[in-house]
Amino acid sequence: MMTSSPAVTSSVFAPLPHFNRPTFLMCPPEFYDVDYVINPWMAGNLHQPSRDAAFMQWKSLYRQLQKVADVRLLHAREGSPDMVFVAHAAVVQHGLAAVSSFAHPQRQTEEGHLRKWLQDAGFLLWETPRETSFEGEGDALFDANGGHLWAAHGVRTCRHSHRHVADAWHTPVTSLHLVDPRFYHLDLCFAPLSGGYLLYFPEAFDAASLEKIEAAYAAEKRIVVSELEATQFGCNVINVGRNILMGAVETDLAERLTGRGFDVTELALSEFQRGGGSAKSLALRLSDSALGSKVVETDLRTQF
Ligand code: ARG
Repeated sequence: MMTSSPAVTSSVFAPLPHFNRPTFLMCPPEFYDVDYVINPWMAGNLHQPSRDAAFMQWKSLYRQLQKVADVRLLHAREGSPDMVFVAHAAVVQHGLAAVSSFAHPQRQTEEGHLRKWLQDAGFLLWETPRETSFEGEGDALFDANGGHLWAAHGVRTCRHSHRHVADAWHTPVTSLHLVDPRFYHLDLCFAPLSGGYLLYFPEAFDAASLEKIEAAYAAEKRIVVSELEATQFGCNVINVGRNILMGAVETDLAERLTGRGFDVTELALSEFQRGGGSAKSLALRLSDSALGSKVVETDLRTQF
């Protein structure tokens, strides 16, 4: 016997948020501090960040990002000092948000705030079970075309969450194993860029992961950073089309990126680096990852 599907009205399917411009979410550092140690960068930096300096640095990133993208704001909450690193609370694509299940209780307090914001903004939520930790864009990044998800495990995110998260979009996923506790998140050592480039620190990965990376990105598309650059958060960049926003690095990394056709803006983000993060971790992408690269494909043919 055939079962008839339940009656649905079109109002059940409210349109998902759609963006015509690259759009990000940021969270001001009102309550930011290093209150505990959950990564090696925080050790020795307990209560060291200056709130005033952090605010100035955050505002300059906010202003620079507003030049190339729309930026929405999530209110900071007392008791969630790492909430400023909003990129770790979800991965968003096609109006659907895979929400994080943070590994550490100190960051689990952030989950409800972002969940509510996303829900109110009309995003569909894809939950991840508490027992398989998953830390959003900290450990899962789409390639620039949005067709492939790179996901890391080994420190914060549990490998078993990868397939579950990728199923939110029925997208292929490649798991990468992080082996150096200094690079405890994928966004600290791996950044897919427009134009099919990849910025990465090879030593943060095991040999099997490196093989997968090298099979996907041709040698001329791989921009390798040195250990010094990686420890200055050189991979933790925001990329919108040909624009790259990053914390200042004391080497020629910006010039190497400029040489590939990128417009690089370096910013002082020292107060956030005391907490173990830099530019990328301060902004969650809300629009599709392909939006930024579509802008650049035209540029690429002409100027890159
Ligand atoms: N204190 C935060 C944490 O340990 C910092 C996150 C910033 N980092 C990053 N992976 N980009 O979770």
